Amino acid sequence: MVDPSDPGQAPEYGGERLVTAGADEIERAAEAALRPKRLDEFVGQQVVRDQLSLVLQAALARDAAPDHVLLSGPPGLGKTTLAMIISAELGTSLRVTSGPAIQHAGDLAAVLSSLEEGEVLFIDEIHRLARPAEELLYVAMEDFRVDVVVGKGAGASAIPLALPPFTVVGATTRSGLLPAPLRDRFGFTGHLDFYDASELERVILRSAGLLGVQIEHGAAHEIAGRSRGTPRIANRLLRRVRDWAQVRGDGVLDLRAARAALEVYEVDPIGLDRLDRAVLGALCRRFAGGPVGLSTLAMTVGEEPETVETVAEPYLVREGLVARTPRGRVATSAAWQHLGIEPPPGAWGAPATGSLFDPAPSAGPGMGPSGEPST
Ligand SMILES: Nc1ncnc2c1ncn2[C@@H]1O[C@H](COP(=O)(O)OP(=O)(O)OP(=O)(O)O)[C@@H](O)[C@H]1O
Ligand SMILES: [Mg+2]
Repeated sequence: MVDPSDPGQAPEYGGERLVTAGADEIERAAEAALRPKRLDEFVGQQVVRDQLSLVLQAALARDAAPDHVLLSGPPGLGKTTLAMIISAELGTSLRVTSGPAIQHAGDLAAVLSSLEEGEVLFIDEIHRLARPAEELLYVAMEDFRVDVVVGKGAGASAIPLALPPFTVVGATTRSGLLPAPLRDRFGFTGHLDFYDASELERVILRSAGLLGVQIEHGAAHEIAGRSRGTPRIANRLLRRVRDWAQVRGDGVLDLRAARAALEVYEVDPIGLDRLDRAVLGALCRRFAGGPVGLSTLAMTVGEEPETVETVAEPYLVREGLVARTPRGRVATSAAWQHLGIEPPPGAWGAPATGSLFDPAPSAGPGMGPSGEPST
């Protein structure tokens, strides 16, 4: 199964979309320039920021390494950014690795045994650590010790090596996949949630300042509304609007530039792109709102079922445009409204005329409260 929220596994289609939450190497380089460096520059996420600020200030006052920190949440919301901020606030250096980069327990042992006192070890995609490495990490996090194995077979012995105090910052898009013993070793877990439009507006205004472009509030507002609650998408759309303003406008990012640019890139007013709209259109126009099975729907829009399920559907479900029911996908009344078409009588989610209407679309089995698969 491809995991949509996991940038390392995102299907290829994801890389071509303007509104995907993941990022490739080139984009990550562009992002580095826009990353907030300190906690007070970090926009939104008030709760996590407050909690983290306490953890860090207390540690600084005690002159000790803070508890290990786990950051969870969907791609592009600021986990890596926060990890960097933690080390900056502590005034220590940051060592970066990731679950997939650690193939063997020995790789992790090498990283751990080279840590210096107070350093922050950032482990991205920590849910993808191999099991033996995970077990080594438990001991290191709890007892600040790593057992170095010398020799092979029956003659092998483990020599315990004491580690200086350090802090692990783990990031995951899938905290549900973390084994409980690992999760328990984090003293603080911060869960990042999608940003609201006013927060994204602040992200955009801040980024525009750093890029040295002039932006009007109306444009920032417009871009924010199309960014799917995700700062990474907001920054990406901002760069496309800047291109448009440079090439076809007068360099100033105003409402006209924002609208025109996002029309060129086919990102609609609520952040849906071509594929999202194709899925929604097929569901409403071809199948009268459903229910329709995933593979039929995918065939109609000319995509693989996996692409529809992992690339388009999560946001459509999150926005309440599509519901997943045991009998298939259905369009909600919001979907008809968004497409500006009158639902046929008896359509799922049409105004209450018959028994088919379910005013509060309930998520199908296997779904979390937000409508995301609860795997
Ligand atoms: N609160 C914020 N304020 C300002 N900019 C932000 C904020 N959160 C994220 N960003 C910007 O969004 C971009 C993506 O953030 P980041 O790389 O930290 O996301 P992530 O959660 O680590 O994503 P992934 O799961 O893909 O690794 C960065 O360029 C960063 O500057
Ligand atoms: Mg990251």
